[in-house]
Amino acid sequence: MILGVNVDHVATLRQARGGSDPEPVMAASLAVLGGADGITVHLREDRRHINDRDLDILRRFVPVELNLEMAATKEILKIAAKTRPDMVTLVPEKRQELTTEGGLDVRQGKKTVGNAVRVLHDNGIKVSLFIDPDKDDVERSKEVGADMVEIHTGRYSDERGDRQERELTRVIVAARKAIEIGLLTNAGHGLNYHNVSRIAEIEGLRGLYIGHSIIARAVLVGLERAVREMKDLVRAAESGK
Ligand code: PXP
Repeated sequence: MILGVNVDHVATLRQARGGSDPEPVMAASLAVLGGADGITVHLREDRRHINDRDLDILRRFVPVELNLEMAATKEILKIAAKTRPDMVTLVPEKRQELTTEGGLDVRQGKKTVGNAVRVLHDNGIKVSLFIDPDKDDVERSKEVGADMVEIHTGRYSDERGDRQERELTRVIVAARKAIEIGLLTNAGHGLNYHNVSRIAEIEGLRGLYIGHSIIARAVLVGLERAVREMKDLVRAAESGK
């Protein structure tokens, strides 16, 4: 099973100061060294974290599968066609949301999604649809020509106890259906070090897409070393070395 690592949050940290540090492409390189099979970024219409330059640089330097998350809008489709990531994951996008909140509305948006799939295919880009764990949405994804689906695990991740069990069952049922009808099947959103195992146990899944928990863990596991390095510099300056 592949692991795609989303580095949007590295760009969010950079945007907090509006400078150039930390650089998402460097985070992507380290993620690859750590074993990431893919790198994901979400180029949002409001460019709140990843920007066009990041995407350009990532396209040139990421040696593993580059997955561009995007809304099916004219502007971003043009950018995708020009940049040619290895795959695109179509997601719904709302300006006010903190993160992608729900799956794509493949029923209402069938025409828009179908058109986007065609444009992306014409440019040699594989297409995944980020959908809620719903069998009908799985079937609709196949109907509009998607190569893959990513089953939204956000509700599973948010719930506890019996409710979480019910959400897990929904994810499993949707994933089985997708695999059965020949869609490459992924899962993601909200997965962390405590809840990932039960999703990773689902047979036949192609991959998992994880961002926040990995970047959050990196901040904590890296903090001690970062402080030590700063202290060493200060001490060396103090002692005139
Ligand atoms: N998959 C999709 C389609 C997403 O939009 C996101 C969030 O950017 C993720 C996976 C990763 O979610 P998280 O950051 O909660 O791991």
